[in-house]
Amino acid sequence: MFQYTKPFYSLLLSAVKSDPETAHRQMLDTLTKIDNSRDTAWGRLTIKQLQNSFCIEDKRLQQSLWGLDFPNPFGLAAGFDKDGTAAGIWDSFGFGFAELGAVTLHSQLGNPRPRMFRLPEDKAALNRMGANNLGAAVMADTLTQTWQRKPRTIPIGINLCKSKITSLEAAADDYVGSFKLLQDTADYFVINVSSPNTPGLRSLQAGEQLKPILSALQEANQYNKPILVKIAPDLNWSEIKEIIDLALEYQLSGAIATNTTISREGLKTKILSKTGNPLTEEAGGISGQPVKERSTEVIRFIYQETNGKLPIIGVGGIFTTEDAWSKIIAGASLLQVYTGWVYEGPWMVKEVLSGISAKLKEKRMNHISEAIGSEQLKVKN
Ligand SMILES: Cc1cc2nc3c(=O)[nH]c(=O)nc-3n(C[C@H](O)[C@H](O)[C@H](O)COP(=O)(O)O)c2cc1C
Repeated sequence: MFQYTKPFYSLLLSAVKSDPETAHRQMLDTLTKIDNSRDTAWGRLTIKQLQNSFCIEDKRLQQSLWGLDFPNPFGLAAGFDKDGTAAGIWDSFGFGFAELGAVTLHSQLGNPRPRMFRLPEDKAALNRMGANNLGAAVMADTLTQTWQRKPRTIPIGINLCKSKITSLEAAADDYVGSFKLLQDTADYFVINVSSPNTPGLRSLQAGEQLKPILSALQEANQYNKPILVKIAPDLNWSEIKEIIDLALEYQLSGAIATNTTISREGLKTKILSKTGNPLTEEAGGISGQPVKERSTEVIRFIYQETNGKLPIIGVGGIFTTEDAWSKIIAGASLLQVYTGWVYEGPWMVKEVLSGISAKLKEKRMNHISEAIGSEQLKVKN
């Protein structure tokens, strides 16, 4: 049986070198076409080939969380499939779940291009996309059609962001508006108050601003869908503590740590070659390797503060099994990846998952649940 190979990916990556956003768009269009052709012989064959190349199964990695069955803990992070056009394909790449969006109530173009940059020296990306998307109503239509063709086989989340044209004061209505349109089409929802690319958005992480959003969303949450909050790596401990206290008070299902960072510290890349400007003068959030340690620290902090009672999705700088394992033992129940998947190629999901299975065996653990937060147990004992 045919399997996709790394040389095939090198070809794709050479396209990325020309312009990351164009390459991303082309790739997503191709995946959307494959997803939409799943009823044809060609579509079936292509999807089978993807599954053979990228998927693995291991009972020790399966978890039930919030009443949802996760075949494995490694998911696609928000921002990759903003309009959910390829929503049905992500299981074929071996992901245990996928988060679509960010979607906003009103469609928006996002920031002017160029707005997505690769920083290969740092194994990082800089983006200031600005939540470009077709809006919640279009996404709802797209997903309704997708799930009619093919019921969901992995949990699907939707990352909700405030529309740029909506004032910060009216943010709660904006999030609720999107949620109401989309609540039938996904399994969990994420309140994104941490993207650096929507003006003022991160100020909504402060307690007084966050409360009305959590309260309004939970009031609208008639099917009791899991709602999580995604936080920035640039907050201090007391700010994070305030968010997790509110998350517990409003019975959120979990936290996602973390979004991209606005910090430019420790980067090897000094000048953004595409614009010729110093990186310190370029707006946007950094993802990948530079955010790895901080994201793990934030996971550890949330796990400790909540005694492991608030499930955490760990994201930021995962490239290898070691990166993933550090986040699991710090307290992450689930993981997500964006930048590492682009750099390492789609094989990385299978490689990281096989690596986690091997770690469990090495540590004589029977299930991933024994590993989650286990670093803290060691510290306490
Ligand atoms: C191009 C790009 C777009 C992103 N868009 C979103 C988004 O719309 N909503 C969101 O919550 N996070 C978004 N993110 C952040 C990722 O979901 C993730 O939190 C972050 O990149 C850290 O993970 P990574 O190092 O594996 O990329 C985006 C990241 C990138 C690189």
